[in-house]
Amino acid sequence: MDVFRIQGGIPLRGEVAAGGSKNAALPIMAASILAGAPVWLSGVPKVVDVDTLSLVLGHLGVEVKPQLDGRTKLETVDPRPTRADDELVRRMRASFCVLGPLLARRGRAVVALPGGCNIGDRPVDLHLKGLEALGAKIRVEHGYVVAEARRLVGAHVHLSGPRGPTVTGTANVLSAAVLARGRTTITGAASEPEVVDLGRFLIALGAKIAGLGTQTLVIDGCGELGGASYRIIPDRIETATLLLAAAITGGEATIAGANPRHLAQVFVHLRRAGAELAISGDRISLACRNRPKPTRLTALPYPGIPTDLQPQWMAWMTLASGSTMLRDCVFSDRFSHVAELERLGARIERAGETAIVSGVERLRGACVTASDLRAGAGLLLAGLAAEGQTVVRRVDHVDRGYERLEQKLRALGARIERLAEPEFPPSLPHLPSPSGAVRIA
Ligand code: EPU
Repeated sequence: MDVFRIQGGIPLRGEVAAGGSKNAALPIMAASILAGAPVWLSGVPKVVDVDTLSLVLGHLGVEVKPQLDGRTKLETVDPRPTRADDELVRRMRASFCVLGPLLARRGRAVVALPGGCNIGDRPVDLHLKGLEALGAKIRVEHGYVVAEARRLVGAHVHLSGPRGPTVTGTANVLSAAVLARGRTTITGAASEPEVVDLGRFLIALGAKIAGLGTQTLVIDGCGELGGASYRIIPDRIETATLLLAAAITGGEATIAGANPRHLAQVFVHLRRAGAELAISGDRISLACRNRPKPTRLTALPYPGIPTDLQPQWMAWMTLASGSTMLRDCVFSDRFSHVAELERLGARIERAGETAIVSGVERLRGACVTASDLRAGAGLLLAGLAAEGQTVVRRVDHVDRGYERLEQKLRALGARIERLAEPEFPPSLPHLPSPSGAVRIA
């Protein structure tokens, strides 16, 4: 396992490019099971979650081949497998996105229940209810979802639960409905840009979908789909993470190749907190010279502030000139970064789905551990701002969803290096213990 060692306190400056969206690429790749001819995708990010899904698809007879021109080709070479590899599904929840496409195209799908994860309870009841409404027979046996249907039939499906719409649930039902007989209406659908991107990809394959970007989707099923060449949207979470990296260090950076329309609410909050923004086409520039103003934030489904930015925002607010209330209405338990930020000197009190962050003047370097992808990004950002050296462990979480994050940060002037865990800690002071043995301070 690798760690990141960061020498904090350096204002970031410069320009880097946004990569393709992980959360758009994953359901789009899964939906390539539906395609009747090869699919060429541009903008597939080189992240571990994409590698994992490529393995899942490989077991399901879909060859995933990166091409020399940077595109990724996906082609069904064996249409018979219907069981997703258990170990891989457990490793990455988003593999559950193969359920709808497998069922619709191959008539049967066996996929392990993904279970909870480090950001809390993550049920899939809405995915299953939605597919059942389309006529699938579903049973949960020994930890597996077994879904069967000779041909799905269009129906009305409602996909909002107590915490709002489900993103991958909408992906699963939408992907299944495109091959169903007749019309499906999904209400309470997720309107995240990643869901819209999946819908556009399906349209490129020949599907008929109306209402993308709203909470009501109308899908007219068709007998079969073809292939397509498609470009995945830029990653709005990576873009905002890099902007926040510039903000937390009091720096100035431009992210090129981004889609500013997907970040409108985030910009409102960045400006409220005191950041200056300039947007020109697909380029977003941010400058922030002072401590942020405390800015209350509630993570909500799109177009609200994404829960996937809550830890990074919290990292910034640890340095605010006052107290900030942060609430996560999507994942009420997504707070594993709180205790780690406290190691760096942050002052945070948590009560249920809310955290009150009392801004401090400075953070001080320490050794912290990432417990999930976005928590890891938040800790990295805090490390960039902290005085002295910070070590972030378990960066495998960060690698799941960010492509070469440390390289992009280095291109902006950050002093950050990746070390293999056994090399660490090479430079922390070693103190003689009373017995004479060496211990680590
Ligand atoms: N929910 C249910 N029942 C369901 C499905 C979801 O009650 O059947 C609840 C969840 O427990 C949660 C809320 O609904 O409280 C929203 O969950 P959602 O299903 O939308 O999350 P997801 O589809 O599993 C995707 C992203 C997450 C992102 C969330 C919210 C992918 C692969 N994952 O997860 O991304 O946080 O939407 O926007 O797209 C990440 O990238 O770090 C990440 C976790």
